Amino acid sequence: MNILEIKDIVSGYGEVQILWGASLGLMEGSLTCLVGGNGVGKTTLLRTLMGSIRPWQGTVTFAGHDISHTPPYTKADMGLVLVPEGRQLFTDMTVVENLEMGASNRRARSKWTENLARVYELFPRLKERSTQKAGTMSGGEQQMLAVARGIMADPKVLMIDELSLGLAPVLVLTLFESLRQLRALGITILLVEQNVQMALAVSDYGYVLSEGKVELEGPARQLIKNKHVRSTYLGL
Ligand SMILES: Nc1ncnc2c1ncn2[C@@H]1O[C@H](COP(=O)(O)OP(=O)(O)OP(=O)(O)O)[C@@H](O)[C@H]1O
Ligand SMILES: [Mg+2]
Repeated sequence: MNILEIKDIVSGYGEVQILWGASLGLMEGSLTCLVGGNGVGKTTLLRTLMGSIRPWQGTVTFAGHDISHTPPYTKADMGLVLVPEGRQLFTDMTVVENLEMGASNRRARSKWTENLARVYELFPRLKERSTQKAGTMSGGEQQMLAVARGIMADPKVLMIDELSLGLAPVLVLTLFESLRQLRALGITILLVEQNVQMALAVSDYGYVLSEGKVELEGPARQLIKNKHVRSTYLGL
């Protein structure tokens, strides 16, 4: 069953249309990636589905309920959590204070202790650095914190915009491995990535977005072998 379903979404900024009928579904418990080149509308799709920009047309369905026009904070309470592009951490606050900000919805507050233990197990570095100011951490540590803050919100669906951007390959592997562990806990994940090769390597299913529309979709193992994907996105 698809826990999240996006159907024929049209949206944009002001008069400028960016999404031209994008559709995708997330199978419950799966790790799905949305890939594509710069500026094709990946972040816009996430913003539209979270509700920070309004869909002009189309529907978003979560666990069978139409949430196309549900306010963002209600979506967060329902378990839809976005780790935004560029992290948007509170740089003057400590690691643990940032984690507290993540756990602000009611369900998350009651699961604080359990989720904190989970996050510290997944990223021991954050435990060591719990009283360090977020802005003084390395880029990789900040990315771990951004993901950890998302986990503290107790997501049913965790969406991550550009997990690997600007990070060393070894750290990207660590972060991608942590996604597999989250999937094993039953969290449904949508990974939005420019790193097409690595995203497809770690995912169950993939969507390729081009000019505001899904141009290709399929099991990640098949997409990675697809001729068009190889020549356009993998430079092979
Ligand atoms: N706030 C905004 N106001 C106006 N136009 C915007 C805004 N944000 C993005 N755009 C435009 O929308 C288009 C799609 O941008 P978007 O950020 O969704 O792309 P993307 O696929 O996430 O790209 P990237 O891989 O570089 O992150 C781009 O042409 C961009 O310039
Ligand atoms: Mg983007």
